[in-house]
Amino acid sequence: MADINEQSVKIKTIAIIGGTGKEGRGLAYRWCKAGYKVIIGSRQLEKAIAAVDEIRGLHGFQGEVHGMDNLEAVAAGDLIVITIPYAAHRPMLETIKPGLSGKILVDVTVPLVPPKVTKVQMPPAGSAALEAQEIMGDSAQVVSAFQNISYENLLHEEKVECDILVCGKTKAAREAVLGLIKDAGLVGWDAGPLENSVVVEGLTSILIGINKQYGVQSSGIKITGVSRQD
Ligand SMILES: NC(=O)c1ccc[n+]([C@@H]2O[C@H](COP(=O)([O-])OP(=O)(O)OC[C@H]3O[C@@H](n4cnc5c(N)ncnc54)[C@H](OP(=O)(O)O)[C@@H]3O)[C@@H](O)[C@H]2O)c1
Repeated sequence: MADINEQSVKIKTIAIIGGTGKEGRGLAYRWCKAGYKVIIGSRQLEKAIAAVDEIRGLHGFQGEVHGMDNLEAVAAGDLIVITIPYAAHRPMLETIKPGLSGKILVDVTVPLVPPKVTKVQMPPAGSAALEAQEIMGDSAQVVSAFQNISYENLLHEEKVECDILVCGKTKAAREAVLGLIKDAGLVGWDAGPLENSVVVEGLTSILIGINKQYGVQSSGIKITGVSRQD
């Protein structure tokens, strides 16, 4: 397993693979505002550049964002976030693995199986994040986060009610990601080892079902019974 300790986790540049999409753009917007340099990764450089223009045009945008193809983005990032559909998860991870050595990979993927996206259907590894760690082996440390927060909550400056659960093998890696969550103006909780990502990823299907049944677009979760700083 990549040696991730608190001293080694100094994150200035965040690269988002599939950052042209909905969730990736939302995270990019918030991290740029918090002072991180953000790289939007795409399979097509022109698409990354177009997404960068869109992000720069968002109300309240400030900061530094650039577009690159996914492999360049991986090389440029101190920490890599992946926001792509589950169907593309394994091939993309195999493609970017060589550039991920020693880095944290934040996996946002929910293993949805269309058309039944309101039914929890986990992959054989247990969860998308566990599958990602299997693919990475010892080269990168996978941290699972953001599966329960809708992109619609990320693209504005109002207070967000939805909390974020963070799972990963080491406390140092989870703490690093919790720091990014706080800097993004969100509330995160240490949800323990990567095996627990099965619950967090599964919750998303329940939230999609609640959205459908109750006619809303961004239901979420909130931890109660513990003192909060928000
Ligand atoms: N949307 C949400 O509110 C939300 C909330 C929580 C978690 N998530 C999870 O986050 C992930 C991304 O969701 P999203 O809504 O942002 O997805 P999206 O907008 O549909 O797609 C994100 C990006 O993935 C890339 N992509 C699409 N198909 C691909 C393929 N076959 N191979 C490689 N890259 C491909 C595309 O980037 P390029 O074409 O530029 O390469 C696309 O812009 C999903 O796993 C989703 O379940 C989403």
